Amino acid sequence: MRTQVAIIGAGPAGLFLSLLLDRLGIHSAILELHTRQYIEERVRAGLLEHATVQLMHELGVGDRLKRQGLEHGGIELRFNNRAHRIDFRELANGKCVTIYAQHEVIKDLVAAHLQESVAANHPLLFETTDVQLHAIDSANPYVTFQHNGSTERLDCDFIAGCDGFHGISRTSVPQGVLTTYERDYPFGWLGILAQAPPSSHELIYAHHDRGFALLSMRSPEISRLYLQCAPDENLALWPDDRIWHELQKRLATHDGWKLTEGPVVQKGVTGMRSFVVEPMQFGRLYLAGDSAHIVPPTGAKGLNLAVADVRVLAAGLGAFYSTGATDLLAQYSATCLRRVWKVQRFSWWMTQLLHRFPDDNPFDQRRQLAELDYVTSSRAASQSLAENYVGLP
Ligand code: APR
Ligand code: PHB
Repeated sequence: MRTQVAIIGAGPAGLFLSLLLDRLGIHSAILELHTRQYIEERVRAGLLEHATVQLMHELGVGDRLKRQGLEHGGIELRFNNRAHRIDFRELANGKCVTIYAQHEVIKDLVAAHLQESVAANHPLLFETTDVQLHAIDSANPYVTFQHNGSTERLDCDFIAGCDGFHGISRTSVPQGVLTTYERDYPFGWLGILAQAPPSSHELIYAHHDRGFALLSMRSPEISRLYLQCAPDENLALWPDDRIWHELQKRLATHDGWKLTEGPVVQKGVTGMRSFVVEPMQFGRLYLAGDSAHIVPPTGAKGLNLAVADVRVLAAGLGAFYSTGATDLLAQYSATCLRRVWKVQRFSWWMTQLLHRFPDDNPFDQRRQLAELDYVTSSRAASQSLAENYVGLP
């Protein structure tokens, strides 16, 4: 087989890239390890920046988002059992964010791919195993893989490594080329999906002596909640009533606000890490999304950062195929990393602002509360939070 751009992975990075390339008339093929059902049911986060929502509409995959997405003009920060609203529309030039689960985004993107007009030039192969990249530092890279029991070869001009943190693309780069920057956090998030109407019409980020808590949602019937726990927390020790008890405590306010409880339909623990590799390109291999960087979920940036990367990559490939110009591609890594590090800073900052660190001493705890007080009482500070949260240019 031959294509122009071989894309490894059908996550947000790979699927958005393929549709961006389709719009530029550039052919691509996606090789995905799992089944369609698996990627369309994988529970992940669910917050879209202003620009990500705009892009979904531009690509013609925004109908369900328009009907089912929950537009939010702000968030609430809670500490010392008091609520403080950050008004995005007022502080970030009318911009807002939208709650729409990542797996719903995947469903919309996959559905667009399976339309004849797209499928013809952008095959999406599921259950491709043993994907291996070859000659990535030459002008004729190729990919080999197993599919339907036979060994296949895909020749291409470029490879987009969109296969996430645990994929093979990053590890295909020769030793010594990449520099890794990382920070692990001494805690994780215990996340639940519950059949309970959300107890707030906007997200609530709570700082509490007992640890962080987040109230989010998926629909008027389904709540999504998280609480800070140990990185290797044993879920067996968390029966539903203990989870609700802890959430009630951490989200409580002086005015007696109460969290509506309901049956927990899904729960899981996720670790927290910040991770970046530099550069995000080697030869004809371009890394995008989680294959190059991971952010802790406190800033809700993972999906949106993957989308930002592939917009830059699509622009570079577009210039290459339309004029032969290689400068945008040559600047791909530097262009992405400038934004990646700003988003890494914001995600780290939100994490250190709102979580209890086991080795914090009383001075640190007071300083943290003073920072929360500053952020919620200074226009300059709350505006900085708002412009980062709705999405940097
Ligand atoms: N071969 C083919 N496909 C692979 C391989 C492989 N060896 N390894 C992983 N994949 C697929 C995964 O099954 C997944 O569908 O690559 C895809 C990578 O998708 P994501 O992990 O979602 O990464 P990305 O597209 O960069 O999106 C980042 O996803 O994980 C969230 O929080 C993260 O929101 C962020 C977003
Ligand atoms: C979510 O809705 O899953 C969500 C929202 C905001 C975050 C993280 C996760 O910061």
